Amino acid sequence: MIIALDGPAAAGKGTLAKRLAAALDLAHLDSGLLYRATAAVALERTVAPGDAEFIDASGSLQPGDSARNGLHSNAVATAASKAAALPEVRAALLAFQQNFARTPPGGKAGAVLDGRDIGTVVCPDAAVKIFVTASAEVRAKRRCLELQERGEDAIYQRVLQHVRERDRSDETRPVAPLKPASDAVLLDTSALTPDEVFEKAMAIVRSRSAG
Ligand code: C5P
Repeated sequence: MIIALDGPAAAGKGTLAKRLAAALDLAHLDSGLLYRATAAVALERTVAPGDAEFIDASGSLQPGDSARNGLHSNAVATAASKAAALPEVRAALLAFQQNFARTPPGGKAGAVLDGRDIGTVVCPDAAVKIFVTASAEVRAKRRCLELQERGEDAIYQRVLQHVRERDRSDETRPVAPLKPASDAVLLDTSALTPDEVFEKAMAIVRSRSAG
């Protein structure tokens, strides 16, 4: 069973993906980490990477790169969004994601993948597709709390601006733009607790796997 979770930054996909994978005994892939690792490798090689550096980094990713420190910084997120707009980078990361879905590690019977284009490009045949979203304001508030918990500075207006810029870049790129698959179920988490999001997602999984 493949579960595809897509949606904008800080909508709650990551938390939900981990909980679904644990509850259903499935493998989990946070595909954003692949784009972040590509960006981090390129940033390590040069301060202001261009297309060529991003493409080169995506082609030479090592298994440990997605577990690097610092992948959650704003600088890495912004660079990841730039790298993610390049067709060559997306092509380099596609095979890894599709292999993960086809042959989930640990002998699991399936996988939960979360990202922006899982339901539309990576796993168009996924049994369950959920598009997880929330208002930009709610997502910015959540991101601020996350940053503060990690002991980092977080100014709401700046985080909100950053969330909006990343949405714009992800939604308007010509290759694999962020958009719900036509057969995805929309799940707006703006007014829901993580437990409520999980319960609603489990209900979607049950109804999809029964059908
Ligand atoms: O999900 P996360 O915020 O970690 O993703 C970082 C960036 O990677 C996103 O802003 C997006 O541009 C890109 N991404 C993507 N396709 C995916 C996952 C992430 O384009 N499947």
